[in-house]
Amino acid sequence: MKVNITETVLRDAQQSLIATRLPFADFEGILETLDNAGYYSLECWGGATFDSCLRFLDEDPWERLRKIKAKCPKTPLQMLLRGQNILGYKHYPDDVVRLFVRKAAENGMDIFRIFDALNDFRNIEVAVDEVLKCGKHVQGCICYATSPVHTLEKYAAMGKELEAMGVQSICIKDMAGIMGPQEAYDLIKALKSSTSLPVFLHTHATTGLGPITYVKAIEAGCDGIDCAISQFSGGTAQPATETLNYALNQLGYETGLDAALLKDINDFFAPIKKKFLDDGLLNPYVLGTKADILTYQVPGGMLSNLLKQLKDMGQEDKLDEVLAEVPNVRKDLGYPPLVTPLAQMVGTQATNNVLLGKYKNITKEVKAYFKGEYGRAPGEVNPEIAERVLEGTEPVTCRFADTLEPAFEKTKAELGKTARCDEDVLSYIAFPQVAEKFFAAREEKESNTVNYTIEKKED
Ligand code: CO
Repeated sequence: MKVNITETVLRDAQQSLIATRLPFADFEGILETLDNAGYYSLECWGGATFDSCLRFLDEDPWERLRKIKAKCPKTPLQMLLRGQNILGYKHYPDDVVRLFVRKAAENGMDIFRIFDALNDFRNIEVAVDEVLKCGKHVQGCICYATSPVHTLEKYAAMGKELEAMGVQSICIKDMAGIMGPQEAYDLIKALKSSTSLPVFLHTHATTGLGPITYVKAIEAGCDGIDCAISQFSGGTAQPATETLNYALNQLGYETGLDAALLKDINDFFAPIKKKFLDDGLLNPYVLGTKADILTYQVPGGMLSNLLKQLKDMGQEDKLDEVLAEVPNVRKDLGYPPLVTPLAQMVGTQATNNVLLGKYKNITKEVKAYFKGEYGRAPGEVNPEIAERVLEGTEPVTCRFADTLEPAFEKTKAELGKTARCDEDVLSYIAFPQVAEKFFAAREEKESNTVNYTIEKKED
């Protein structure tokens, strides 16, 4: 039996370990080897990479995608898309979502893994539809969480709903690495019998359950798993590619991976990892195994962000208290899965509750959540907080994007020459201030280059 392996070093692994700070120049030299190694797909775009390219790395994310595609023509490129949120933290109108998908497809994206943080599939239907129109592969996600409202029957029904929407495969997204082997086995079995689609499993090594859970999932018929090359594996990232490849081969499964090339890839990343350890961006804390997370249910990215936030405020010693407050906030919000943007919302609110007092300061995003602007909460929300936030107004019950006016053409006209192409307009819509700064820096860099060339000519 074949087990498909997706390599996450270019997206989730570096997002989870080094806050998505891996520049293109660092990994450019290994792209051809990655393309030849036999992966099912390379997860390399979407998630936080888009924001990080513009905000921290002075890179055009669209150009990054084109450059990866040029060096990896064989292996399908994969991205993570937050449905109606695209890659940002709020809902965007349908015209923006559709054009974003189309442009991503045009620039080289092959597999679109699409999720909604609340598993409210009304928030992914437009993106799913557009991927299908572009003739690309659409993978519908179920965000995994445990709570009194997340039952096996509910998950099986979600799989059916995704299949009815036309997705070509399903991914169970265990952001926090909290899924145990038996849960994985039961869940894969349930989805395999409620749908006829391939089922993929995404987890993190945070709690140490990852590899065991993967093996049991595969025994239940799981078609593919996400792994990270060992230098960037473990802790809050994925379980190691080489380890899973070794174990699966021993158990008689085919992965199609070339172990010698995996070694080359891993050797390539060794000095890169060392660089990030030396400059402090890779905090060894995130590399450890945290069984406590089985109680707190905090995803890797969220954990490293919380740690960084508290460190910046000089409140690093409050981490345990904040982690203990997370399940309380989650309950008040009706048990949302902790994934972007909910992970950040719950994390920030839990931090506020610990540092300033319980709900003394309710963030703008949590208020919007109670107003129904993110979609349906999986369970009942805390009625007292809801009442405080709503102040007598009615919450939104329709698909929130139905309340939004088209934005692309209007924004394009406003930007004028600042935006050189539709991709620029989309970058701006997703991250206005950050994109504006990026465009200005780009202009300046280019005018310097021009001056330099002219001076050279005059010499
Ligand atoms: Co992940």
